[in-house]
Order: sequence, then C-alpha cells, then structure tokens
Amino acid sequence: MAAHGQHVVSEGLGTSEDTMRAVVHERYGGAEVLQLARVPRPEVSDRAVLVQVHAAGLDRGVWHVMRGLPYAARLAFGLRRPKHPVLGFDVAGTVIAVGRSVTRFAEGDEVYGFGEGTFAEYATVPEGNLARKPTNLSFERSAIVPVSAVTALKGLRSAGKLRAGQHVLITGASGGVGSYAVQLAKALGAEVTAVASTTKLELVRSLGADHVLDYTYEDFADGARHYDLILDIAGSPSIARLRRALTPNGTAVIAGGEDGGKLTGMSRQLSALAISPFARQRLTSFVGSVRTVDLEQLTAYIEAGTVTPSLDRTYPLEQTADAMRRLDAGEVRGKVAITI
Ligand SMILES: NC(=O)c1ccc[n+]([C@@H]2O[C@H](COP(=O)([O-])OP(=O)(O)OC[C@H]3O[C@@H](n4cnc5c(N)ncnc54)[C@H](OP(=O)(O)O)[C@@H]3O)[C@@H](O)[C@H]2O)c1
Repeated sequence: MAAHGQHVVSEGLGTSEDTMRAVVHERYGGAEVLQLARVPRPEVSDRAVLVQVHAAGLDRGVWHVMRGLPYAARLAFGLRRPKHPVLGFDVAGTVIAVGRSVTRFAEGDEVYGFGEGTFAEYATVPEGNLARKPTNLSFERSAIVPVSAVTALKGLRSAGKLRAGQHVLITGASGGVGSYAVQLAKALGAEVTAVASTTKLELVRSLGADHVLDYTYEDFADGARHYDLILDIAGSPSIARLRRALTPNGTAVIAGGEDGGKLTGMSRQLSALAISPFARQRLTSFVGSVRTVDLEQLTAYIEAGTVTPSLDRTYPLEQTADAMRRLDAGEVRGKVAITI
C-alpha cells in the first residue's frame, strides 16, 4: 500500500533505522480505522525538506481524508481505499535534511508548515509550504496554525476583501478556522460578531469578539442586524439566510460546512456561484492553499501578540484516534495537536 510511495511494513512497533512510527488508515471510516504502524521513513525530494516532526495539527481536512468524504474527493484521496495511508498535513518540527534545490532552509531550522503524512516521526514538506516557526510559540501551538489560520486570513482578506470598520459575522467561530478568524478580523479593524454554541461563547469572547450569538437559540438571519461580510465556516446556512443577514452590498464567503452534501460537499458553493452574478450582494467561496508567504504573514501577527493559537489539548501519537473522537464529538475548542 502506498504512503507517498511507502508501504505499511509492520504493525509491530520495534525499531529500525529506515522505518518510523506513523498513524495510518487502510480503509475509510471513523476513528476506529486509525492504527499505529511502522512505515518506511520518507526520502527527501529535490524541492522538499525532511522534518523531524515534534507536533502535528489535527483539523477537519484530516477528518475528510479519514472518512473519504465528500465522495467526489475520493478521486484525489483514492477511489476504493486511501492512496496515502499516513494521515496529517499540518506540522511543526526540526529540519534534518534538505533537497538539492532547497535554498531557504538548512538542517537544524525550526519550522512549521503544510506537508503530507505528518502524523509520523518524519515527514517531507515542500519548501514552498514551509516557514520558520514563530519564536514565541511552542511546537504544539505552531503545529495548529497552518491550514486553519491561512484559511481564516484568505477568507477575510482575499475572498472577503474586509476593510477596517466593517461589521463581520463569523459562523463556526469556536473551531479551528473560526478561532483564528475572530482574532484576524479584529486585527484587520472589523467589528466582530461570533456565532458559537452555548458552552463555547466564553472562548470566542476571550478571542476578542465584540458580540456573540448562541446559535442554539439565536438566529443571525432574524433581521435584527445586517453584516458587511459573513465568513461562513460552519452550520451550513442556506444561501437565502446568508443573504437575509447581509447589507444590500454585503459579501458572504462560504469557507466550509460539513452538510454541503456528501457527494461533492459543494452544493452551497455552487448555488452561490450561480446566484452571485444576478445579485447586488457578492456570494463567493474559495479553497485555500498554504504557502510560505501566508505563513510569514501569520508569524508576524503571532510574534506581535495579535494572534494566539487556541490549543484545546494535546494527544501523543498513539492516542490520535482519541483526538479524532473528540473532534467528531464537537468537543474541541480551537484545535488539538498530536505530539511525537
Ligand atoms: N475553504 C477552505 O480552503 C477550507 C480550509 C479549511 C477548512 N475548511 C472547512 O471549514 C470548515 C470548518 O473547519 P474547522 O477546521 O474550523 O472545523 P472545526 O474545528 O470542527 O470547527 C467547526 C465549528 O463549527 C461549529 N458548529 C458545528 N455545528 C454548527 C452549527 N450547526 N451551526 C454553527 N456552528 C456549528 C462548532 O462549534 P460549536 O461547538 O460552537 O457549535 C465547531 O467549533 C469545515 O467544513 C472544513 O472542511 C475549508
């Protein structure tokens, strides 16, 4: 079975120079499909670095790969079974080898970024998806930054074109993307209303939200307030509800939503695309990618103390399935990190 060209070699966990411990899945399903196994250590390619992983971030992207959902994504993940059994994308660790064409990193550098197969002792990461780790953060906190914080930044700034003084509504504000979105929207000068469930309202307040809405009994689209920008991360509100909550020239950016349909997961995004040309309001969506330049911008916010990653808790590699169960149960506040 291939894991970036690798095979699961053994489920026994003895040691060997050219193998490593990793969390793998050989079929799609819930947390029960995750196993600790030994796989070959990855080899560093020309434009990548080999990172000794100290911590890896768990996010919804990993959940999608584990579940093989939405089904259309199996074209990329593997039709019948996972093509890349080692899970994990976000990483923080130490560079231990660099590819021949790599110019910006050297052995010993402490880095964070977006690779593949990071729930493992070693992972390769393309040079272009990597940056030096913020000096004021632990590896655990650095590892929960890349995909979630970049998504929040792109959703607000690139897709949402947020300007200082605007009023922004953020759904899913207590989660991975949302916990960064609240802080970044404040840093960009917005007035922020954060939507979360009852037990997480305190968290989103502490992140700087000016107003909070408890979606278990309050409706952001009840007409009481209108927003210049909605960053829609969770809850899958209909396009009609998003439009009702917008100002006449407002923008809705659909960043996520697990109920977007199991086939493509994109039904609301496609509706937004179809309606937007005929509406005064702008309805859009995006898929983010993590690049060095994005990470460096986040490093600046983090080192200035403007953004602090919300670390819910950490789990050792062998308890990754428990971390996934916590995410599945909706208990995570911010994000969890896997430590290696
Ligand atoms: N476009 C992109 O490039 C991109 C990148 C990364 C992620 N995403 C997507 O963004 C979404 C969020 O990702 P994430 O990592 O932030 O997930 P997450 O950490 O699981 O956070 C999602 C949050 O949604 C809230 N929520 C659950 N049900 C809700 C409901 N009915 N109404 C309102 N809020 C609800 C939960 O908070 P409460 O417990 O407070 O309800 C939870 O904290 C996912 O769909 C993911 O696939 C997209």
